[in-house]
Amino acid sequence: MYTIAIHGGSGTINRSEITPEQVKQFRQGLEAALDAGYNILARGGPALDAVEQAVRSLEENELFNAGKGAVFSANGKHEMDASIMCGQSLKAGAVAGVTNVRNPISLARAVMEQSENVFLLGSGAEDFAREHKLTLEPDDYFFSHLRFEQLKEAQKENKTQLDHSKKNTGKGTVGAVALDSEGNLASATSTGGLTNKKYGRVGDTPVIGAGTYANNQTCAVSCTGYGEFFIRSVVAYDISCLMEYKGLSLKKACDYVVQDKLKNRGGEGGLIAIDSVGNVELPFNSEGMYRAWCNEAGKGEVAIFG
Ligand code: GLY
Repeated sequence: MYTIAIHGGSGTINRSEITPEQVKQFRQGLEAALDAGYNILARGGPALDAVEQAVRSLEENELFNAGKGAVFSANGKHEMDASIMCGQSLKAGAVAGVTNVRNPISLARAVMEQSENVFLLGSGAEDFAREHKLTLEPDDYFFSHLRFEQLKEAQKENKTQLDHSKKNTGKGTVGAVALDSEGNLASATSTGGLTNKKYGRVGDTPVIGAGTYANNQTCAVSCTGYGEFFIRSVVAYDISCLMEYKGLSLKKACDYVVQDKLKNRGGEGGLIAIDSVGNVELPFNSEGMYRAWCNEAGKGEVAIFG
């Protein structure tokens, strides 16, 4: 039963802080990304292509904090992180702190498929992008007044700011998970990270096992939330391990990690997950999470609020 789920970030998302017009725009962005991935699965295409294309769609929509909509770092740049994992081969690719790359998720995939490495960083990853003919964009492509205002606000208060916090209508990290008709799982995640981040800060998104994980024997997971907590709790791999070693269902594993373990450690956020038979979970412990899913039977939803 082929299935896809996507997210466009989690956090302080409630009806009083978002206009009906913004709700409409976010829903349209989610639907477009879901369709991009779903159409590949419906044609019998691979889960890896589906998650890459879904995330590319979100990266090219300035509403979401990834690619074109990435937040500003303290140095005025857009330093982006992304990772992708194939549940069949257990191969993975990741990049962190890359600038001017139009689709960091495709760069992560190129690292997975066209190098012997898993994780490339900063200017080295950009050199790899140039050598492998990935599309680069000038700084202007990533500029938006909303993001610039968010940077100034964060700098005034001398804090790094999760893009999901109050006063922000643009929300965080994006991701996709999919199960294809061959029974293969894949996961992809991409982000601009935190507004006003410094010192080369990297969150969970490009860390395999923390923000992204896929294994055909268990599940595919993509996370969204305050990255430091997700790294410390190794969230995505933890869910897979609870299924593999303790025999938990996807639902029980997700509920325990998101609503119990992570919450008790102060970690706000959520994730999307699909298991090897197409069960879908979209748990979050924040006020809302931009999310959508759809399966072969046409079941699914597009939702924002809790
Ligand atoms: N979850 C994205 C980040 O913390 O960078």
